[in-house]
Order: sequence, then structure tokens, then C-alpha cells
Amino acid sequence: MDKPLVSNRALLMDALAGLRAKPKRMHPKWFYDHAGSKIFQRITELPEYYPTRTEISILRHEIDAIASYVPEGAALIELGSGASTKTHILLGALKTLDAYVPIDVSGDFLLSVADDLARAYPALTVAPLVGDFLEDLALPSATDGAPKVAFFPGSTIGNLEPPEALDLLNRLRSWPDISAFILGVDLVKAPRTLILAYDDPAGVTAEFNRNLLHRMNREAGADFQTEEFAHDARWNAALSRIEMHLVSRKVQEIHLGADRIAFDEGESIHTESSHKYTRNAVEDLAAGAGWHVAEFLTDPDRHFAVTVLVPAQTRSA
Ligand code: AVJ
Repeated sequence: MDKPLVSNRALLMDALAGLRAKPKRMHPKWFYDHAGSKIFQRITELPEYYPTRTEISILRHEIDAIASYVPEGAALIELGSGASTKTHILLGALKTLDAYVPIDVSGDFLLSVADDLARAYPALTVAPLVGDFLEDLALPSATDGAPKVAFFPGSTIGNLEPPEALDLLNRLRSWPDISAFILGVDLVKAPRTLILAYDDPAGVTAEFNRNLLHRMNREAGADFQTEEFAHDARWNAALSRIEMHLVSRKVQEIHLGADRIAFDEGESIHTESSHKYTRNAVEDLAAGAGWHVAEFLTDPDRHFAVTVLVPAQTRSA
């Protein structure tokens, strides 16, 4: 037998740690290789997956209210790609913006996006920053002295455990001259609506989830029989989150690096948590990190919220 090729050691090391743990888990960041990003794009177009289109419609309807929190000469700092419709809604409306800083771990992608944006908005300084926004990052000098507005759309904050989300809010709050944080959050709603959004009848989300196994086969020398794992989306009411799992359909063993990983029938790999918020939960989280919820902008069904956080006022003596 040929030795399986490992092209991604970081994935292998993380998968070994996650699959040796009990319960088994994988970090959702591994969903987004090229194939996974394509499948996610298809998810955002599904009728059952309301977050993307709802957030876009809130941004369009409420752009004036949002723009009023962005001072003249500000730098907009986006946590994530910056390639999206959402970015264009903001950049198109914020005429007095000085700089735009998209932050992403994928350098190639980021630089091509930055090029396109610099062409589309000639008056704007586009200063991409390659890195992980969950770690401490030095902002580019183009933002020195400028009022700063952070933008984190997509309800991606839902992937974070509450203490990690608090940590992120604290970090942004400590940026010099931070004026506002525009944050998209998905809201608590009927479990059947949530489950359908994460277990669509066309099976696109199942494909997205299983791509993790394909990816371990491609890049970490694993030998998962991907159809022997069932996609499962569960509402965890106690923790207010949707969980995605891959559930072993039988007793089986897979190879990963030099290791063998055993599965019981019905044993799962927890692949993602997507936390859902209430207005109160957002207000508590924000207050815990020195922010005040200045705007909580929702759609008529209250499925999603675009929130604007501002530094909480400290009472002057
Ligand atoms: C990109 C993290 C916001 O949690 O809704 C979509 C990812 N997972 N369907 C989400 C996802 C399954 C998505 N986020």
C-alpha cells in the first residue's frame, strides 16, 4: 500500500487532537478550503438559509442609520474576506471613509480582493491585513490616528464560544480611537426554522459538513468513507446554539497519520456550533466588554440583527 500523502500538517495535527478527544470534535475553520467555500456559497443561496439574504436586506434598508455611526475620515476594518455584497453596500454608502482594512487568513484571496476594491473605490486607501482576527493584530499604519469602525457581518461571531466572543469584543474595544462596531448576529427563533437552515432538503449543508472528511482524505492522509457518516443538525436549547455533527452509521475504524481512530455506531464528530442570540444576550455580552448597543436593526420576522455597538459612556466626574 502507498503511504498516504500529508500536504497539510496543521490539519493533521488538529484532526488528531480533535478525533482523539471525547466527544470527538473538529474546528469549523477547516470547512473553508476551495471546495468548502464554493459549497458555502451555495448554502447562502438556499431558500432555507435565511441569514445571508436577511442581513443584506437589513444593511440596505438601514444604511443611513448605520452610516451615522461612521465619522468622517474613518477607517473601516472588516473581520473576514471583504469580497461580499455586504462590503459593497457599506463602501458604496460611506463616501467620507479614508481607509478600508479587510482582515483574512487567506493571503492570496485577500490581495486579489484588495486590488479589485482599490479600483472600484479610487478615493479609498485599501490596506489588507493577512492574519487571524482572533489573535492580537497590529493595525496597518494607514489607520493611525483615524477613528475606527469594525465590521463583522455574517453572524460568524456565532461560531465562537461565549468567552471567545467576549474576548474579541474586549480586544476591539481596546483599539485606539474605536468609534463603533457593526456586528451581525443571528437571532433565536423557532427550532424548526433553525434546523431547516442547517439541514436543507437539497442536502447542500450535508455536503458542506462531509467536505471536512473529504478534506482530511485529500490533505491529511485519512481514509474516511464519507457516506458512512450522516449529517446531523441539532438545536441545543440549553446553550442556545445549532450544532452540526457527523454521525458514524456503523462501528468503524479510520486511519489518520500513523493513528487509527475507532468509531462506535452513532458516535459523532461535533463539527460546528452556531450560537443564536437574543437582544438581551447581545446587550449583556456587549456590556461585559465596555460596549453599549446603540442600534439593534432587524428584519420584520426578527430573524437576524445588524447591531451597532459604541463604547459605553463612562460617567464624567
Ligand atoms: C459562516 C459561521 C455564519 O453558522 O450559519 C452555514 C456557517 N454552517 N451552514 C453559520 C454555516 C452551516 C455559517 N457561518
